Amino acid sequence: MKTTKICCIGAGYVGGPTMAVIAQKCPNIKVTVVDINESRINAWNDADLNKLPVFEPGLDSIVKEARGRNLFFSTDVDTAIDEADMIFISVNTPTKTYGKGKGMAADLKYIELCARQIAKVAKENKIVVEKSTLPVRTASAIKNILDHTGNGVKFQILSNPEFLAEGTAVQDLLKPDRVLIGGDTSEEGEQAIKALVDIYANWVPKDKILTTNVWSSELSKLTANAFLAQRVSSINAMSVICEKTGADIKEVSKAIGMDSRIGPKFLKASVGFGGSCFQKDILNLVYIAKSYGLNEVADYWEQVILMNDHQKNRFSDNIVRTLYNTVSGKKIAFLGWAFKKDTNDTRESAAIKVADNLLNEQAHVAVYDPKVKEEQIYADMDYLNSRHSVENRALLKVNSDPYEVCKDAHAIAVLTEWDEFNTYDWQNIYENMQKPAFVFDGRGLLNHKELEEIGFIYYKIGRGTKV
Ligand code: UDX
Ligand code: UDX
Ligand code: ADP
Repeated sequence: MKTTKICCIGAGYVGGPTMAVIAQKCPNIKVTVVDINESRINAWNDADLNKLPVFEPGLDSIVKEARGRNLFFSTDVDTAIDEADMIFISVNTPTKTYGKGKGMAADLKYIELCARQIAKVAKENKIVVEKSTLPVRTASAIKNILDHTGNGVKFQILSNPEFLAEGTAVQDLLKPDRVLIGGDTSEEGEQAIKALVDIYANWVPKDKILTTNVWSSELSKLTANAFLAQRVSSINAMSVICEKTGADIKEVSKAIGMDSRIGPKFLKASVGFGGSCFQKDILNLVYIAKSYGLNEVADYWEQVILMNDHQKNRFSDNIVRTLYNTVSGKKIAFLGWAFKKDTNDTRESAAIKVADNLLNEQAHVAVYDPKVKEEQIYADMDYLNSRHSVENRALLKVNSDPYEVCKDAHAIAVLTEWDEFNTYDWQNIYENMQKPAFVFDGRGLLNHKELEEIGFIYYKIGRGTKV
């Protein structure tokens, strides 16, 4: 079975880049990405590639090459479903904010809506691919909805979780460590798996394309994210001990990372992990474990989240304590708001919680981020519901000039590891700040020797103060 038309429902951080790369690598397949969010689709279609809704290094040139050739962005969901042989579901699955499983379980309402829409529109057999991260056994729910259309249309459900990381999405898609495809073990299931393998085989070596049953595939995605997040929480837990004992977390990371069983990646201490996946997926895992009565398993994974919350809170606590136990009326400059560098995504970013804690202490926060828009920063603060939006706008200011943001500040907090922060004229920044001038480096990014020579009092996550 040869795929000639693909539809992807959801034009977000996963759907957009993934489909752009599929379209680039498979010029004979027509790829249509649809979304109910009209302004998002307009942004994907904008002639000005700087206005794409997702910022990812290298994405603009791929969109430029494929858009209008075999890559299309549209709000006409029904037509795209009707035409396609293969439909990717790439809609958001946030943590539930209401009802049973509130604050834990994944909210599958968008997925269900997609399944119902596909069931309503489809007139011919289709392969439906789950791209969004989903709890184990979601495929059976989708299948249930699709199999009860009564019009004889047959569906095959595949799980094809996306492992791309934001900020490196294009590289991760072009050269994935592996592609995982889970499907039914029946003959029809195997044919569907082969159809998807054939698409990836256009650019991914065959030995990196792994096929499994649907449940293993769904669970592997949650497991991978849980393990990655757990490494960050583990190194962050050690960073606290480093600060007390005089050890340096960078040296410890290097020393343990050289053990081939541990490996060097994902051992950077930070102000806490963010992003749309880690917290959501672990909460989801905790919820699944609890629902099977596996309380010890649930508690084990929940600790990864509790450690992450602690890391964010202790960062802001340290700022308050160091600034003589009060930041009331003091200006604190934030360098960075995104949850990591090279993305404009702010979901679950540590900066949000740190800002909220500091505003509770009546600090004045000034924010600079090279890619995040002002309205997004205010939306993130308002979403917390900690105070009136008018107050958020009075206490927190956003500026597109980092030197203005740091001017007259009592302290600078580095929340995102943007490379450009290292290129600043730190002498100039120092001269324009209140004294003593503090830097709290939540990413271990800046050159501490240089800053200390200038006169800054420099605090870095995981660097022990000399005792
Ligand atoms: C460990 C460290 O590996 C070593 O670097 C350190 O110097 C001493 O402690 P050891 O205890 O001798 O070495 O053996 P190791 O291979 O680490 O196994 C420890 C236990 O973990 C064993 O019971 C082993 O069966 C178990 N294990 C290990 C697993 O259950 N699963 C695994 O994947 C690996
Ligand atoms: C993650 C997974 O890496 C990816 O495979 C999955 O598909 C989606 O979730 P993403 O959230 O985009 O990707 O970024 P990632 O690079 O994993 O970083 C997540 C958070 O952990 C960031 O806030 C980052 O700053 C933090 N982090 C990461 C650390 O604090 N230290 C590290 O060593 C690595
Ligand atoms: P992710 O990081 O998983 O890609 P995003 O929130 O960036 O998540 O993107 C998900 C997209 O899915 C959003 O743009 C949203 O408008 C879209 N979406 C959600 N439900 C539907 C639906 N029923 N039909 C079409 N698009 C949808």
